[in-house]
Amino acid sequence: MQERIEIALKEALAGTAARGAPPKLSAALQHAVFPGGARVRPQLALAVAAACGDDCPALSDAAAIAIELMHCASLVHDDLPCFDDADLRRGKPTVHKAFSEPLALLAGDALIILAFETLTRGAATRPERAGPLVLGLAAATGMPGGICAGQGWESEAEVDLAAYHMAKTGALFVAATALGAAAAGADPEPWHELGARIGAAFQVADDLRDALLTEAELGKPAGQDDAHMRPSAVRELGIEGAVKQLHDILGGAISSIPSCPGEAALAKIVSAQAQRLTPVQFRHAAV
Ligand code: IPE
Ligand code: IPE
Ligand code: MG
Ligand code: MG
Repeated sequence: MQERIEIALKEALAGTAARGAPPKLSAALQHAVFPGGARVRPQLALAVAAACGDDCPALSDAAAIAIELMHCASLVHDDLPCFDDADLRRGKPTVHKAFSEPLALLAGDALIILAFETLTRGAATRPERAGPLVLGLAAATGMPGGICAGQGWESEAEVDLAAYHMAKTGALFVAATALGAAAAGADPEPWHELGARIGAAFQVADDLRDALLTEAELGKPAGQDDAHMRPSAVRELGIEGAVKQLHDILGGAISSIPSCPGEAALAKIVSAQAQRLTPVQFRHAAV
C-alpha cells in the first residue's frame, strides 16, 4: 500500500516540474511532499476503498493522494511564521526555512489546487463519482468545519476543544474514509463516524506526543501546545486523562465500521493504528 501511495504521489508531482515551471517553486513542492511522514490518511483511504471492493483502483489512488497532498499543504502553511513559526518538519527544515516565505505560501496553495486537480483527473472514467469526491474534500478543508476553520479557531478567545480538533484534524480523517468509500462507488455517509473517531484519537495522540517526546524523536518542535498556549487534550485533561480519552475514542472506532466485504481486514488495520498511536509507556492498556 505504501508503494502504491508513493508512486501515485510521484506521478502527481511530476507535472509540476515540467519544462517552463519556476524551478524553486517546483523544488519547494517536492520538499513539502517527499520524503513523507507516516502517510496515515492515504493508507486509511485505500483501506476503506479495499473494504468497499476497490472496483476502480486508479480512482482510489487519486482520492488517497489528494488527501495526502492537502495534508502536506496544511503542514506547509501551519509551519509559517504567521501560524506556528516552526523550523523543523519531518526531521528537516520547513519549506519557508529551506526556500523562503513567499515560496512556502505558494507551495501550499499549489498543493491544494493539485489535490483537487488529481481528484478530478482520477474520476475521468467514473465522472458520476467526481461530485461527491470533490465536495468531500472541500468539506474537509474549507469553512465552516474543515482545516481552515480549525486554524481559524486559534484566533478566537473561547474555543471548544472537540470542535477545534474535529475541524483541524478530524475533518481530513473523515475525508479519508468517505473518499475511500466514494472512490469505490459506495455511499460515503456511513463511513464518517469511523473517520471522525480515528481523527479525534489521532489528535489526542499528537497532543500526547507533543507533551511527552523530544524534538529529535518527533522530527518537529516539541512542547508547541504549551509554547503557543494552544488548546490541547493534555492541557485540558493531563497526561493520564488524555490517555484515557484516547482509549475511550478508539474503543468505539472498530465497532463503528460499517458492514462491508472487507470489514474484518479493516478492523485489523484500525487496531494496529490504535497501538501505534498509544505512547509506548501506556501500550499495556491499549485497545
Ligand atoms: C501532523 O500529522 C499534523 C496533525 C494533524 C496533528 P501527521 O503526524 O500525520 O504528519 P506526517 O504526515 O506523518 O508528518
Ligand atoms: C497542524 O496542527 C495540522 C493542521 C491541520 C495544519 P498542529 O500545529 O497541531 O500540528 P504540528 O504539531 O504542527 O504537526
Ligand atoms: Mg498549528
Ligand atoms: Mg504546527
